[in-house]
Amino acid sequence: MGRRLYIETFGCQMNVLDTQLVLGQLRAQGYQVVDTPDDADIVLYNTCSVREHAEQKVWSRLGELRATKQQRPNLVIGVIGCMAEREGTGLFRRYPHVNILCGPAELDKLPAMLHNAVVTSAKPSDTDHVSHSGRRRQVALMASTTRRSSTLAATDDHLENLDLSRSVSSTDDVSQAYVRITRGCNKFCTYCVVPYTRGPEVHRPPQNIIDEVIKLADAGAREVTLLGQTVNHYAYRHPDARVTSFADLLYRIHEATPALPRLRFVTSFPRDFTDAALQAMRDCPRICHYLHIPAQSGSDRILKLMNRGYTARQYLDLIDRAKSMMPDISLATDFIVGFPTETEDDHRRSMDLLRYCRFKNSFIFKYSPRPGTIAIDRFEDDVPEPDKRRRNNELLAVQQEVSAENNRQMIGKRVEVIIEGESKLTSRQAKADPSFVDLTIAGNKPAHPHLSPTVTQLIARTRGDQIVCVDGGPFLKGQLLRVQITDSQSLTLFGKLIAD
Ligand code: 5AD
Ligand code: SF4
Repeated sequence: MGRRLYIETFGCQMNVLDTQLVLGQLRAQGYQVVDTPDDADIVLYNTCSVREHAEQKVWSRLGELRATKQQRPNLVIGVIGCMAEREGTGLFRRYPHVNILCGPAELDKLPAMLHNAVVTSAKPSDTDHVSHSGRRRQVALMASTTRRSSTLAATDDHLENLDLSRSVSSTDDVSQAYVRITRGCNKFCTYCVVPYTRGPEVHRPPQNIIDEVIKLADAGAREVTLLGQTVNHYAYRHPDARVTSFADLLYRIHEATPALPRLRFVTSFPRDFTDAALQAMRDCPRICHYLHIPAQSGSDRILKLMNRGYTARQYLDLIDRAKSMMPDISLATDFIVGFPTETEDDHRRSMDLLRYCRFKNSFIFKYSPRPGTIAIDRFEDDVPEPDKRRRNNELLAVQQEVSAENNRQMIGKRVEVIIEGESKLTSRQAKADPSFVDLTIAGNKPAHPHLSPTVTQLIARTRGDQIVCVDGGPFLKGQLLRVQITDSQSLTLFGKLIAD
């Protein structure tokens, strides 16, 4: 029975975490993870539905597997995550060679489904030619089970078992780890599929979250990122009606993990930020002064059509409050350009908002109408593609100006970074590269004690989530080090390791 598994993940950090948790469970059951679909008995795609482009990549992967499946009928193919939930069993009509469909809210069932699929597909039988028949298929979708209620008690929350199953072994790289604090979303922004694919918002019990962060910190985590679609909306109602707020949770995690150097959280929802949460960020020295807080637009009219629940003024007031409490705060945002009816004046307001907030970076997306959302029913996608593209580029150009200026101000500063790994540039021998000495020796100080004569360009991240390129060795991955910023480009800083 084949148990070699290939998995490819698309989309957000939530999906990255789901993949890690699913893999943890499957490894424990003896599955072996392989690097290419060619070596695999099972191919899983953990998918994203947020924009059409993300879905197209998966469609083309599934198309490529059609021929493989004909040659190897026992290959098990699974579509998991948001596309499975959004498409439902209709996906089988287009791709009859798919065996498994599992939505993101049902992933705790995946090991059993996989077991069934592998056993059935390995069984030699005269029905083998009907390998596409329904009885072989395994389906778990929120839409096909009873929809969970938004007031669901945590004890009824079967998906909690997936997060609780997290095991950390000595070989796992946990230097930067994700921990979920809420699942789902109740906001129903008119353009967004997430409330339909991940279901209503469910808050995890605080003790489960704290225990998980402690487990990761004990295993050597340097940075834990708390995840939620609207992470700062966290509020857990205990059986005795006490409520643990997001601010309470931050204080409790911070206190419980004194050896964890960095705690951060994404993604924040502008309307939900309390002063207490900002105070917790200010008061707890190991919480990073970083917010990813999508604005989506700078136009009140568009924000209203998007059902975001705030005005541009309210967004700016929040940014002012955050900056006055934490002058060193680093901000990132998302924008959608070309939302239905968006005019040049609306677009200008987005550019003004970007300039005012001086974001570290903006993720800019062209509006993509998504089936099942309110916007696709209610509004015509009437901004022509060339206008969307131009507005995207214009917003990007403003962001680049802002980033270049922000980054220039960093030159000469000394900052803490976490080394994430090697950059795409190939490693090079120190002796072949005259810049070696400049890049690795801080002033007259000796070279960093960890450095070997072979230098590799590494990607590191500051507490404010800025990327810094530094020269060092791959063995530094996961370490927290100090660098001096020596140079900058619009999106990247360059630095050298320093020994203090
Ligand atoms: N079209 C374009 N961008 C979208 N996003 C979400 N839905 C859509 C859509 N239909 C963007 C938002 C969100 C980010 C994760 O993706 O900016 O914050
Ligand atoms: Fe989607 Fe809005 Fe929820 Fe974010 S807050 S996941 S954009 S519905």
